[in-house]
Amino acid sequence: MSEPTGFTLWFTGLSGAGKSTLAQGVRRRLVGRGRRVEILDGDEVRTNLSKGLGFSKEDRDTNIRRIGFVARLLSRNGVVAIGAAISPYRDVRDEVRRTHEAAFVEVYVSCAIDELVKRDSKGLYAKALRGEIQHFTGISDPYEAPLSPDILVESDRQSVEESIDTIMKSLEARQLA
Ligand code: ADX
Repeated sequence: MSEPTGFTLWFTGLSGAGKSTLAQGVRRRLVGRGRRVEILDGDEVRTNLSKGLGFSKEDRDTNIRRIGFVARLLSRNGVVAIGAAISPYRDVRDEVRRTHEAAFVEVYVSCAIDELVKRDSKGLYAKALRGEIQHFTGISDPYEAPLSPDILVESDRQSVEESIDTIMKSLEARQLA
């Protein structure tokens, strides 16, 4: 039997937009179809592979290049690599795309900032607004949304299941799922 097609599914979006939740949901669906899947989640990567990195542009870029490097190795060997980090800078996301041998599918998880401040599951937006965290993405640090994402989901308008359906349909249309 031939090796299944590996690819990278790259989530980008603000903190709390739903990247990790959607990554886990998509993983569940793909594993159900017999695929091997690895999630490279920003928060998790920062406790091991990127331990010690902060949130300057330089450190964020280093974090994204590391995640991109691992995703590239996995995806070219038949695995579905799912990246789930804010990845705020367009140039580095595009660089990771260019270095991929396998398909690279960018998913923009869009969510209005007011909604994120309301959700604030980690309490970080309140801190950022009080100035207790500096350079917080979307509040006091830039986020460059993709100009033409491969897939767009709007977590302030769609349910988690609807967003997962949107992603799976798009992967099917690309013959990746
Ligand atoms: S990235 O910019 O390098 O892609 P990454 O996704 O790994 O970011 O980490 C983001 C997570 O770090 C956020 O969800 C949040 O929990 C935490 N965090 C701490 N400080 C910041 C900050 N200044 N900006 C954004 N996220 C922060």
